[in-house]
Amino acid sequence: MEVKNKIILALDVPSMEKAVELMDKVSPYLDTVKIGYPLVLAEGLESVSRVKEEYDCKVICDFKVADIPATNQKIADVTFQAGADAIIVHGFVGADSATSCLESANQHGKEIFLLTEMSHPGASRFLQPVSMDIASMGVEMGITNYVGPSTRLDRLGKIRQIIGKDSFLISPGVGVQGGNPKDTLEFADALIIGRSIYLAPDPVEILESIIDSIEL
Ligand code: XMP
Repeated sequence: MEVKNKIILALDVPSMEKAVELMDKVSPYLDTVKIGYPLVLAEGLESVSRVKEEYDCKVICDFKVADIPATNQKIADVTFQAGADAIIVHGFVGADSATSCLESANQHGKEIFLLTEMSHPGASRFLQPVSMDIASMGVEMGITNYVGPSTRLDRLGKIRQIIGKDSFLISPGVGVQGGNPKDTLEFADALIIGRSIYLAPDPVEILESIIDSIEL
């Protein structure tokens, strides 16, 4: 996946009205948006189609899919039918659950991202002990897109080693959670950034400053 300016906006706003207000300002700088439960539970899956159509961008649905294979497949199918270009899938539930999402993606000509380790402090207790195994499982399955934490660069580097240089790695945790954009891009192909942009008094100013800092 190509990501303009290496930044994926996490569109975690509570309404389409807020989404449009933000996207009208920042869309010239972006071509990839991540939409998760905050917007979809408020406005429905239609928000995915609307953002795609109105802003001509790619949408990654961050549903962190983590159910049995049959249910995962239904979730992935309906997400792709709404127009999503990719869906984020948890790896800890096992290869069979992730495979059902991968099969759905292949049927729809779309992609999945396998979530290895999460970026928040609580991930260290349950997810961290298995995150490298999850990355290895993804490689065995032939998955080429991954999510890893910008808040623990040593671990992001290990994930990169496991998935190889040709896999596509996107990384949340930049900004409010403490991750540094430029340092993260030593290992990741693109950054996921939410609050630093949508809570800023001037989202365009902050976005421009992040882009400048990456290019330095
Ligand atoms: P902030 O506001 O912290 O938003 O810039 C980060 C966005 O990324 C999501 N997030 C994650 N998604 N694996 C994921 O798949 C993670 O480890 C992870 N950590 C944060 C978060 O929900 C928000 O949309």
